[in-house]
Amino acid sequence: MRRLLRRSSQTVLIGNGSSNPFAPFKVGFNKVQRTLVTSCRAVLLPRFGGPEVLELRDNVSVPDLKPNEVLVRARAVSVNPLDCRMREGYGRSLFEPLLPLILGRDISGEVAGVGSSVRSLSVGQEVFGALHPTAVRGTYVDYAILPEDELISKPESISHVEASAIPFAALTAWRALRSTASIKEGQRVLVIGGGGAVGFSAIQLAVAVGCHVSTTCGSESIGRILAAGAEQAVDYTTEDYEVSIKGYFDAVLDTIGVPETERIGVNLLKREYHWTYMRADNEGLAEIRRLSEAGKLKIPVEKTFPITQVREAHEAKDKREIFGKVVLELD
Ligand SMILES: NC(=O)c1ccc[n+]([C@@H]2O[C@H](COP(=O)([O-])OP(=O)(O)OC[C@H]3O[C@@H](n4cnc5c(N)ncnc54)[C@H](OP(=O)(O)O)[C@@H]3O)[C@@H](O)[C@H]2O)c1
Repeated sequence: MRRLLRRSSQTVLIGNGSSNPFAPFKVGFNKVQRTLVTSCRAVLLPRFGGPEVLELRDNVSVPDLKPNEVLVRARAVSVNPLDCRMREGYGRSLFEPLLPLILGRDISGEVAGVGSSVRSLSVGQEVFGALHPTAVRGTYVDYAILPEDELISKPESISHVEASAIPFAALTAWRALRSTASIKEGQRVLVIGGGGAVGFSAIQLAVAVGCHVSTTCGSESIGRILAAGAEQAVDYTTEDYEVSIKGYFDAVLDTIGVPETERIGVNLLKREYHWTYMRADNEGLAEIRRLSEAGKLKIPVEKTFPITQVREAHEAKDKREIFGKVVLELD
């Protein structure tokens, strides 16, 4: 992902007293916590390849919790482009020695156990969040483990499916526009690829700040993008947006990253450009939660699959049969 910015004058778990042996609990002494959930279902990636390499297995071990970690009973996990790319071999030099991997970044579910230093979350709470891009044990599991600061309480107003679609994409947009570009009220922001999850999150984050937002997107995305508060939506399939988009922008977020969008983005930018990546950010997650609860940050979910159909879900994304967000449900 490339965010383009040209510089201007501004610089830029052991018993819990319950009779239910599987009841979750919190332990307050050891540094490494033993969870009663010692194994669960997980989608393993034993080797790189197409959707057929994904294997849903029972009895995959659940590691002990470190003090800052939280055990989450997953209810919904979304499919991000990164999952498909990792499956195909993206980051091979980093990930190959670590196979088998578990894919998945986003999650929504319930806290099933907490490490000894966890203070903000408690057992039974509904939470959502996203793992950082290089995590080896992902979220395509019945029980996921995330650091406390990569989770936050889920708004009651949204379902687990809706919540699981948001964090990874929205945190990527947050990092680009809020952390890196420090967008401010009144500024002009261009989002190239506003129809995707990252782009649509960026539009909603920029609108919430009070920016004037222009975007490029497909014809089917125009209505939802204008309804979200963008002032201009140019159909990249039928219009020459180099001509349609006027003036210069304080920030340009290019979620497409091909030479053409890069060139146009740089030319429409007042400042220098930076590469930017998704990074866990608790302040960002809190703001994303606040906006989601207020109905101001949504990512439409186009289709859900049971986790047992994870191969079909990846195949549908690979073949571009589904353009919008796909979510895997766990019972
Ligand atoms: N570096 C990082 O940390 C990081 C983190 C997250 C994502 N990413 C990357 O960012 C990209 C977007 O991720 P995502 O989750 O938003 O993907 P996504 O939801 O699958 O977005 C795909 C959308 O992009 C739009 N699109 C495709 N070609 C376009 C073009 N030439 N001009 C304008 N829009 C175009 C289409 O929108 P329409 O339906 O409107 O046509 C399509 O639906 C992916 O490449 C992903 O790998 C990087």
